Amino acid sequence: MDYTTTSKTEWLEQEIDSLKVQGLYNTIRTIGSPMDGRIVVDGKNVLNFCANNYLGLANHPRLREAAKKAIDTYGIGPGAVRSIAGTMTLHNQLEERLAKFKGAEAVITLQSGFTANLATIPALVSKGDVIFSDQLNHASIIDGCRLSRAQIVAYEHNNMDDLRRQIANTTEYGRRLIVSDGVFSMDGDIALLPELVEIANQHRILLMIDDAHGEGVLGKGGRGIVDHFGLHGQVDIEVGTMSKAFGVVGGIVAGKKVIIDWLRQRGRPFLFSSAMTVPDTAACLEAVDMLENSTELVDRLWANTRFMKQEMSKLGFDIGHSDTPIIPLMLGEEALAQKFSRTLFERSMFAMAIVYPTVAKGKARIRLMNTAAHSQNDLEQALETLQTVGRELGVL
Ligand SMILES: Cc1ncc(COP(=O)(O)O)c(C=O)c1O
Repeated sequence: MDYTTTSKTEWLEQEIDSLKVQGLYNTIRTIGSPMDGRIVVDGKNVLNFCANNYLGLANHPRLREAAKKAIDTYGIGPGAVRSIAGTMTLHNQLEERLAKFKGAEAVITLQSGFTANLATIPALVSKGDVIFSDQLNHASIIDGCRLSRAQIVAYEHNNMDDLRRQIANTTEYGRRLIVSDGVFSMDGDIALLPELVEIANQHRILLMIDDAHGEGVLGKGGRGIVDHFGLHGQVDIEVGTMSKAFGVVGGIVAGKKVIIDWLRQRGRPFLFSSAMTVPDTAACLEAVDMLENSTELVDRLWANTRFMKQEMSKLGFDIGHSDTPIIPLMLGEEALAQKFSRTLFERSMFAMAIVYPTVAKGKARIRLMNTAAHSQNDLEQALETLQTVGRELGVL
């Protein structure tokens, strides 16, 4: 295309048309109710299996109340970036409470899990350094790695032999970082943390785990992947998010004091973008309070998950190898997965098709997100709908 003679946005129109032709155009649905086990999507009442609202906290009365009360005391916005005049008592309280909850030396909070990765990776490695990154890491890790300008060496997903090989072949760099998702969000499998710790310690390489889908889900009362494996103090950097199980929004970086201190000096989204708002921060504090005092929601999440996995297997579905509340209903063909999702929606069940390029070609699936917000009745209805649609489309 000759960009000097066409309109300034013609290339964009062509790109969008091309996405539509390939069936890759993302049509975004609108939610007209609070986030819950049952929601209103594009005006229709549906069972919701799309949200990362693992503990059902996104519309919990205690979080709503905490947010309202905080607004009455502190207003809404932080007013400036944290390093200038935007750090409020609430931000400090949340960081202290999260550090205690997670058994970490210190915590820094950011606006989101995405910005937590963008803040952390470029602050720790740069040009001349090397990052060993699991092939299936989340986009925010990939972007953080690219921003750092360090050499990126992708190792095969959860393949510790390949990681060892790559480390052995990569000797001429300065600082080194191993980075992995804690829970891989498209399959629900977990990083091999004990082996990662062993390799990182053996080679004196910094280890960073992004526990976005493990925060509030794994470990005692949802304390995360490090707690799940009993590896406190052995993972240098644990990134997390409060947008999933915590039901709110906000990023977490937990780790040694010296690392967190460094991020307050050099984490660019911390220094140059304003902090979490007052209601977000207060709601997250309430979530920590709830998780510290009871494992009830986490227990319910796992009971629901066990029931769904067991019943879906009994029905004859291929549900992959998830170790977490994420259930991938493996269908293979992209068109089948899209049709499955549309038919579920017609039958009042909201569950997204995940297709290429998010997963490999021929590995299309429906991703079912279990939560504590689902009642037994919701689960039974979901199973009945899945079975009907599965039979209708020749999957069962
Ligand atoms: C592994 C991982 N990291 C980071 C994020 C981003 O989290 P947030 O929505 O808080 O920006 C996600 C969300 O999908 C994720 O799965």
